Amino acid sequence: MDGRDLVRSVRMIRAVGPAQGLRSVRAAWRARRADARALPRRVTERARVPGPARGAESRPGGGLIHFTRSSLRVRVASGGAVFCGWDGAGPEPSYALAGACPEVDPRAVLEPDTEGGWRVVSERVLVVISRYGAVEVRTPGGAVLRREQPPRWWDRTEGGGCTEDGGRTEDPDAPRAGRPEASGASRWVLRSEVAADARFFGLGGRAHGPRLRDGEYRLWNTDPGGAFEPGDDPLSLTMPVQMVVADAGTHLVFHDNSWDGRVLLREGVEGVGSGHDRPGSCQLRMDGGPLRYWVLAGTPARVLQVWTALTGAPALPPRWALGHQHARWGFGGQDEVRRVVSGYQERGLPLSAVHMDIDHYDRHRVFTVDRARYPDLPGLARELRAEGVRLVSIVDPAVKAEPGNAVYEGGRSAGAFVRDARGREVRGVVWAGESVYPDFTDAGVREWWGERYAERLAQGFSGFWHDMNEPVSFAPFGEPTLPRSARHALEGTGGDHREAHNVYALAMARAGFEGLCELRPEERPFLFSRSGWAGLQRYGGTWSGDVATGWPGLRASLSLVLGLGLCGVPYSGPDVGGFSAEPCPELYLRWFQLGAYLPLFRTHSAFWAGRREPWEFGAEVLGHARTALRERQRLLPYFGTLGQLARLTGAPYVRPVWWNTPRDRALRDCEDAFLLGDALLVAPVLAAGVTRRPVRLPRGRWYDTATGRAYCGPGRVWVDAPLSRIPVLARAGAVLPVAGADGATELEVWAPSAGRGGGGLVVPDAGDGWQQPAVERFTTRREDDRVVVERRDGRPVGYPVRVRGLEGEEGRCRNPSE
Ligand code: NOJ
Repeated sequence: MDGRDLVRSVRMIRAVGPAQGLRSVRAAWRARRADARALPRRVTERARVPGPARGAESRPGGGLIHFTRSSLRVRVASGGAVFCGWDGAGPEPSYALAGACPEVDPRAVLEPDTEGGWRVVSERVLVVISRYGAVEVRTPGGAVLRREQPPRWWDRTEGGGCTEDGGRTEDPDAPRAGRPEASGASRWVLRSEVAADARFFGLGGRAHGPRLRDGEYRLWNTDPGGAFEPGDDPLSLTMPVQMVVADAGTHLVFHDNSWDGRVLLREGVEGVGSGHDRPGSCQLRMDGGPLRYWVLAGTPARVLQVWTALTGAPALPPRWALGHQHARWGFGGQDEVRRVVSGYQERGLPLSAVHMDIDHYDRHRVFTVDRARYPDLPGLARELRAEGVRLVSIVDPAVKAEPGNAVYEGGRSAGAFVRDARGREVRGVVWAGESVYPDFTDAGVREWWGERYAERLAQGFSGFWHDMNEPVSFAPFGEPTLPRSARHALEGTGGDHREAHNVYALAMARAGFEGLCELRPEERPFLFSRSGWAGLQRYGGTWSGDVATGWPGLRASLSLVLGLGLCGVPYSGPDVGGFSAEPCPELYLRWFQLGAYLPLFRTHSAFWAGRREPWEFGAEVLGHARTALRERQRLLPYFGTLGQLARLTGAPYVRPVWWNTPRDRALRDCEDAFLLGDALLVAPVLAAGVTRRPVRLPRGRWYDTATGRAYCGPGRVWVDAPLSRIPVLARAGAVLPVAGADGATELEVWAPSAGRGGGGLVVPDAGDGWQQPAVERFTTRREDDRVVVERRDGRPVGYPVRVRGLEGEEGRCRNPSE
């Protein structure tokens, strides 16, 4: 047990109590023994590289290159995504892909290269393969985006004479004796170089981003156990998805492999030594699984559009899920829920949902209700719904293993639970005690689980909050999850937890989403999940998990949302106020003000960490929180539009400030502000005592929405950030739909600069069903001192228009000196 284990044990016992603590010690021992028995301990490893090429053949969309000890399939899909699969790996099966693998681009062809290798030429990228298996991805103009060295495998055969650590590693270039014993049995490493100016983003939800600096990032979904801060890695939602942004271009690379792995990133340096650049590098080491990856190149918007086409359109949250939501671990019962909702109403604070944590269950057992404290949950839900407030239920995957627990007994007869190599149920420990885990990688189990949501719907819940699904089993030592040797169906191919772990929550999200679609086909499900993997957006969103209360935690909240958006998961947000401790009023307020501009705007905390209602922090905070809530309410039509656009194009609501100008290096390094759609730039306050802050602007004119004052980008300007608000700037020419005083949508138009046009998109609210409203396009232009707003399709504008940024003081562009 090391120091970290000790801290984890103390935190765990604080949260679960000594009896659970003891059970978890037993479970951890069991897991250790199971792995020792079932996982191959003694392996012989034979290192391998592809070796020299022996020839190549054209295949649809690219070709197949044969090397002495491997083969590489390069395949360009329509839309321009490039697939590379080594050792016979194809794009399918894949948990990430949305459906059938995309069609190949028949125009992409394999040609011999002048250097003795080959090239696959396509409309958007050029892939150059060397005779020894190095792969370069270039822009059509020839600029190198990414250079992969030939991969290296360590093929394992069980029962040999050398331990993995002792590592008898043979000559990589010696002829191969044979294939590895089982598919997925080889470890491998892939080293790549990118431009010296490149910046890395993504890898799922990381606390120390959004720019991923030099360091190692683990690919293994992990409950940080209590609370996390920047520097803690990995967290609940990891993904082998990176976005790399450089002057030469932007690309996204996705290594489609769910095994445990590590990504070692090193940013490049320009002009080192005798003026030479040191390229950036990325080294990916995987414990097993196929070596296959996709590369998508283009503008950031284009890249995410192609990524969405590949892995699925983001689910559109129902419109109420864009309003403010309040969660609590430790509501005393139904009267307290009622009191909190009344507290919001009496103070004029908009609220759209209340989230109920595990304490509303009967002794923490999933799909049950504590009838003593919630004698009439459906009645409460009906009453609140009539007042515009929904109930959201937490759903944990672990099922208490106890005779008489209907979910356990039903699951048992359905053969739903994960088993060990000897065919016995794998038992872990979570809140309810000793528990078993549904195997969501089995279609039949997903169906069984999806049907369980009928009970939740009957209780009156409208949305679902998937938690503890890394999956977690409390463990004072070892890994706080299932044993790696636990068996999974893996859609019929069969395998163990080493392969299933990272996709467990993704498959759980699928089970919930599909179940809800069956049970309530007329409504879009609302679901968000702590853990997940590439493709999670098809089923819902996520949230920060247990972010530590403190200024670093506030900063991490923003990193997480930005990073996840660049991996294709646009709907997320933090626990406003932080999860782990009581925030001071200023911290709470700044967190609240940031949260008001993030897709999931939810207050929440641990039961020991104090309350999060806005009136708990004094009159001044309450007043400013009310302002933030009302502004969020006013922006709801804009959030609705952004949700629709995310579904249609993959563009996240929350975008880095370099989104439209990725070649602007100063913007690439700016991590303390973000674009909310195309129209707004939000500059939160992320440190104590700040009432004025620098803001790095993209090019063009920007108006401070509070004062109407205009600033000119590109450049850095100082903007007031009094306690009452955070700076929000609007792009000149922008059109954004907002709720007017009567609640109806109107257009807020920010005056375009003279001689320049502007515009915006509006997707009208079509309710919470599946209707697909049309996208309305507007243009703006200046005619003398008038602003003209028109609909692109020539129809009447159809909304009241309010122009801002024109009058007097407001129109002048001032960049006050710092
Ligand atoms: C861990 C979750 O991250 C947190 O949000 C929740 O309150 C607790 N589990 C209890 O369910």
